[in-house]
Amino acid sequence: MKHCNVHFQPDNLVTTIHAGATLLEAAGQARIILSTPCGGIGRCGKCAVRLLPSQKEVLACQYIIEHDLTISVPDSSRFFKQKILEYGIQRKVSRFPSIQKIFIETPPSQIDAFCELLTEKGSVQVVPDTPDSALLSQLSTGQQSGITAILSLGDCAEQNALPSCYQLTGLEPGDTTKKLYGVAVDIGTTTVVTRLMDLNTGQIIATASVGNPQSQYGADVISRISHCENESGSEQLHRDVIGCLNDLLQSVARQAGIEYCDIYEMTAVGNTTMNHLLLKRPVHQLGQAPYRAYSLDTADRKPKELGLQMNPAGNIHVLANIAGFIGSDTVAAALACGMDIADTKTLLVDIGTNGEIVFGTQSSLMAASCAAGPALEGAGISFGSRAQAGAIERVFLDRGDIDVDVIETPDATTICGSGLIDAVAVMLDLGIIDETGRFCEPDELDPMLSNSIRKRLITHNDEPAFVLAGKYTEHQWQSPVVLTQKDIRQMQLAKAAIRAGIELLLKNARTDTADIQQLLLAGAFGNYIQKKNAVRIGLLPQIPIKKIHFVGNAAGSGAQMALISQEAREMAKKLAEKIDYIEIAHHTEFQMVFSEFLLFPEN
Ligand code: FES
Repeated sequence: MKHCNVHFQPDNLVTTIHAGATLLEAAGQARIILSTPCGGIGRCGKCAVRLLPSQKEVLACQYIIEHDLTISVPDSSRFFKQKILEYGIQRKVSRFPSIQKIFIETPPSQIDAFCELLTEKGSVQVVPDTPDSALLSQLSTGQQSGITAILSLGDCAEQNALPSCYQLTGLEPGDTTKKLYGVAVDIGTTTVVTRLMDLNTGQIIATASVGNPQSQYGADVISRISHCENESGSEQLHRDVIGCLNDLLQSVARQAGIEYCDIYEMTAVGNTTMNHLLLKRPVHQLGQAPYRAYSLDTADRKPKELGLQMNPAGNIHVLANIAGFIGSDTVAAALACGMDIADTKTLLVDIGTNGEIVFGTQSSLMAASCAAGPALEGAGISFGSRAQAGAIERVFLDRGDIDVDVIETPDATTICGSGLIDAVAVMLDLGIIDETGRFCEPDELDPMLSNSIRKRLITHNDEPAFVLAGKYTEHQWQSPVVLTQKDIRQMQLAKAAIRAGIELLLKNARTDTADIQQLLLAGAFGNYIQKKNAVRIGLLPQIPIKKIHFVGNAAGSGAQMALISQEAREMAKKLAEKIDYIEIAHHTEFQMVFSEFLLFPEN
C-alpha cells in the first residue's frame, strides 16, 4: 500500500499514513487535535486547514491524501487553547490513600516473615499478593540498603472484611517512601484534565490538560458511540484516551521533576461512555434505548492492563457511574459538593454538551441528564468557539453601547458560551429580540435606542444579525463578530433542554424552584457565566442570585478526594447507589415543558 508523508505546520510534525486516509486521520495520528463538532461528516466546516504552498482551504475530514503534503493548521481549527478551569471546591477528607509504602531496613528472606514485619511496622494487616517467585527471589538476594514495600489496599480488604488489609504488590530497593505520587483525572468529552498529587502530603504538585483526542470522531458521546460500531472503532477510541493519559502523565511528571514510575495511583472520573471507553467496556448499548451501561460498578485495573505508563505495582481506580447518561463525573461532583451530607435542598447543575443535574438532600437524591447540544460550547453558532484566545467571554452595556471582554487578545474573532449568554441577555434588555427570540423589526425598536446600538443591527448571510465586536469605518463593519437569528434559535434549544431538565427533576422531587436553597454551578463553562444573565435568559430558574454559587471543576475535586482518601471512595460508591436516575427525555411532559422554556422570560 502506498504511504504518504504529511507535514503539519506550524507544529513542524511529520506523520506517515496510507494513501486514502483523510487529513483528519493524519492529524490525529500526529496528535494534532482538530475541532470536529459534526463528527467529521463535512457539515460544520470547523476542521478547515490549508494546503501549502497553494494556501487552498480544505476540510480535513473530507480531504483524501494521495501524495505527500504540507498542511497549515490554523488555531481556529484546533481543539486546544481552551481555558482550563482550576479545580473547584475542596471538601476536607482524611488522607488515607489506597497505596502505602513501608521501608524495612533489614528484610527477612521469607515472604511470610516479611509481611509479618510490615504488619507490625505499618499497624495494618499485610498479606502477600498472589505467590510470586520473582518477588521471593528478589527478597532473598538481600538488599544492603533495605527494601521499600509497596502496599495496595485491594481485594483482600473486602475478602477479609478488614478495612486496613493491604496486599504486598511490589518491592523497591532502598528507601523510596518519599516518592509516592498519584493523579486524579477528569476525562471530559471535550477536555481531559490531570492533577498530580503527593500522596504522602495530599498536596497538589502539577496540573496538565489537553483536548480529548476522541473529539476527532465527534463532539458528543453519541458520535463516539457510533464510531464504535465495529471493534476497530472502539479499540481506536480506547487507544486515543490511553495515549492522551500517557502524554498527561509525562507532562505532570516532567513539571514535578519526578519519573513516571513514581506515580502509583490514578483515580479517573468521566461520563459513562468515557468510563467504558477507558476500561474497554462495550458501548454500543449506550447508543440505543434503554441506554444501559455495560457496568455501573467501580473498577480497579493494573497499569499494565490498560497500557498506562505508571509504576507497574500501582492501581487505576475508576469511580462508579449512576446510569447510561450519568457517569462517575457527576458522582464525583456530588461528592465534592457534599450532597451526601447536605441538609439544605441543593441543585447541582453541570452545564455542558450534556447537562447533568442532581437535586435533593442527603435523605433523597435524584439526577437527570439533558442533551443541551454543543451550542453553549460554540458549535453550530456562526462565530461560535470554545473559550479560547480571541473569544468574547463577556458582553455588557457601557455608556449606551456594547462592550466586550475578549480572552487573551485585544481583537475578538469568536464568541464562547458565556459571551453568548451575556449577549442574549443584553439583546433582550435592549428589546432587540423579543421573548420568542425573534429579531424585532426596526419599527418595533425602542425609539430611545442609541445610534451606537442601532448601527450594530445588520444583515448577515441574509439574516438579521447583531454586531458584538468589529471595526466600524465608513459606515461598514470590518471583521465583525455577529449573532444571527439562527444563533439565537440554537441558543434557545440548548437553554430549553437544560431548563426543562431542571423543571422536570424538581417536579419528580415534588418540589419547585422556590424550594431550592442553593444552586451550585459546576464545570468549566458554569464558572465563567454571569449568574444574573443566566437567570435573565431563563437558563437557570428565577431564584435570588445569592443562592447561586460556582463550584468550579467539582468532578475533578471529587476525583482528587478519591485519590487521597479511601473513605472518599467509599462515600462515592454509596452516592452512586443512592442517586436515583430520572429519565427526562421520555417524560410525558418533556415536549410541553421544553416548548415553554424555549421562550425567554419577560423582563
Ligand atoms: S466539517 Fe470536518 S469535522 Fe465538521
